[in-house]
Amino acid sequence: MATTFDFNNKTVAVIGGTSGINRGIAERFAAAGAQVAVASRSQDKVDDTVASLKARGAAAALGIAFDVRDPEAVAEGFAKIHESFGDLDILVSGAAGNFPALAADMSVNAFKTVIDIDLMGTIHVMKAAYPYLTRPGASIISISAPQSYLPYEGQSHVCAAKAGVDQITRTLSLEWGLEGIRINSVVPGFIDGTEGAKRLAPSPEVLKGLTRSIPLGRLGDCDDVANACLFLGSDMASYISGTVLAVDGALYQRGSGSTGEMMGHMLRAASAQKKG
Ligand code: HXC
Ligand code: NAP
Repeated sequence: MATTFDFNNKTVAVIGGTSGINRGIAERFAAAGAQVAVASRSQDKVDDTVASLKARGAAAALGIAFDVRDPEAVAEGFAKIHESFGDLDILVSGAAGNFPALAADMSVNAFKTVIDIDLMGTIHVMKAAYPYLTRPGASIISISAPQSYLPYEGQSHVCAAKAGVDQITRTLSLEWGLEGIRINSVVPGFIDGTEGAKRLAPSPEVLKGLTRSIPLGRLGDCDDVANACLFLGSDMASYISGTVLAVDGALYQRGSGSTGEMMGHMLRAASAQKKG
């Protein structure tokens, strides 16, 4: 598909931007001429992504390793990005962790780990980026998930965290709107070949059932999500704020039904086997 957006002279930061969906977003902004910064825990993944951003035509590319659970490291990371690139026009916040586990089988720390990455990580990123956002005109995009509004068995931690992420989106659209800062969430459906989809559909049978349940008849791909982010980051979306945009092939209209049920069945069988 031809890129119709021009992000020359724009600065973009993608947090959790070194693999899967978020890396795809960073790469598309790079190909559209932006200077792009990415961050995640692994320095190797950061370095590899920066090389790819440059190869795809980024005006400049920068990477920093930090864990979104550490608010001081996140603040230092944004200060460094600002030092090199100046104010941020577009911020994508997408760092997340997920594993399927029934609530009764999960330790308190397991639940808290996902809350700390997805939910606390989001507010750490928002607060650290806030002083450096272009006013007016900045666009923030949080990468959410269908778990924000659909309950899935084995996903109580992710459902709680992503619902919180979308409420941060809605609340900050009120708090920061008068400064000319827009904020929206993008909800990818099941995206082909990604870590998230592999973890939730670990067998060909589950993947087949899941694909059948998607009204558009296919999994999404990373470009589907990146296209929505390019739109929300552009002036074409200048009156859109506080919204939660599903890019999910109409998965939401179907609900979590058979997919959630399959996951629950698998997890209960594994749990029963473990308990003997
Ligand atoms: C039960 C588990 C578990 C599992 C970890 N834990 N995996 N519990 N079942 N499968 C528990 C551990 O035992 C530990 O609790 C606690 O969780 C923390 O685990 P650590 O390994 O110490 O955590 P950490 O090294 O910080 O790694 C975080 C992680 C990991 C989330 C567990 O998987 C990760 O880094 N993930 C990032 C990549 C990722 O998840 N990508 C997919 C994103 S997709 P105890 O009590 O033992 O200390 C997504 C939505 C997809 O977010 C939606 C699709 C539609
Ligand atoms: P992924 O490839 O595992 O990407 C996760 C990214 O976040 C990586 O760059 C990872 O890099 C980083 N990250 C993880 N924990 C971090 C932490 N504590 N601090 C900083 N960075 C961290 O996952 P994905 O499947 O593409 O998912 C990407 C986003 O889309 C997530 O927000 C997810 O919830 C959402 N989503 C995915 C799907 C799907 O089908 N895959 C569906 C709906 C929503 P490091 O390992 O280097 O830290």
